[in-house]
Amino acid sequence: MTYPSVITTDNSRKVSPLPKDLDRLRMPEHIAVIMDGNGRWAKEKGLPRTIGHTAGVEALKTTLHLCSNWGIGALTVYAFSTENWSRPSEEVNFLMTLFESVLKRELTNLKLEEVKINFMGDLDPLPIGLKDLIKESVESTSNSKGIHFNVCTNYGGRRELVRAAQKLAERSVKGELDPSLIDENVFASELFTASEVDPDLLIRTSGEKRISNFLLWQLAYAEIHITDVLWPDFNADTLAKALLDYQSRRRRFGGV
Ligand code: FPP
Repeated sequence: MTYPSVITTDNSRKVSPLPKDLDRLRMPEHIAVIMDGNGRWAKEKGLPRTIGHTAGVEALKTTLHLCSNWGIGALTVYAFSTENWSRPSEEVNFLMTLFESVLKRELTNLKLEEVKINFMGDLDPLPIGLKDLIKESVESTSNSKGIHFNVCTNYGGRRELVRAAQKLAERSVKGELDPSLIDENVFASELFTASEVDPDLLIRTSGEKRISNFLLWQLAYAEIHITDVLWPDFNADTLAKALLDYQSRRRRFGGV
């Protein structure tokens, strides 16, 4: 086990026991999630897309809490992709403001629940207020002993790979790294996920069957669970179903 198992110290919510049909010994260590379908969820209800994102935050809080309680070591979510800037500016601005207000509001709870938060992606173009809060939340939870919660923000898998290649090239040019010694481990050490094991399970909501530039390197051997449920409706039952599906697979990592 790479991640320490933690008894939650959260006193703001009830502890959620692991559903009986799940095998505690065969839980994924790391779950990655593409939280898709906020817009469609809102549209179905005749509401603006932004309400879908607000509802998506509640589904994320529930998922993080459950993963923490059910012994998952790391949860990595796709909050904002490098391609999401092409959405209407009102929606982009709404999302930035939402991230900031949620972080501000939830930081105390995240600390209580021993969550270690990290942000993955190119954070430079984010609004200054959000960047400051990200810095504060990462620093103030850096010694947390619980679940690793990675929020991919202005993240793109291809961009991450190019960035890693650039970093390795720079080290080689400076004479710090012999190019012939670059192997998979050295390469992975330059990714945002350097301190994580690769995800065992990828969950994508809203029925889309794509990876969409998410964790291209890290998902090489992940089991993929796709559900038609729209992200704001994701809850304990749908997470348990994804985990049951995962536990029904025989992972072969290319072997027989
Ligand atoms: C995809 O649904 C969802 C997003 C691009 C945003 C996800 C963000 C959250 C759930 C909030 C996370 C908050 C924090 C603080 C990390 P979509 O808009 O693409 O839905 P659609 O495909 O139905 O249009």
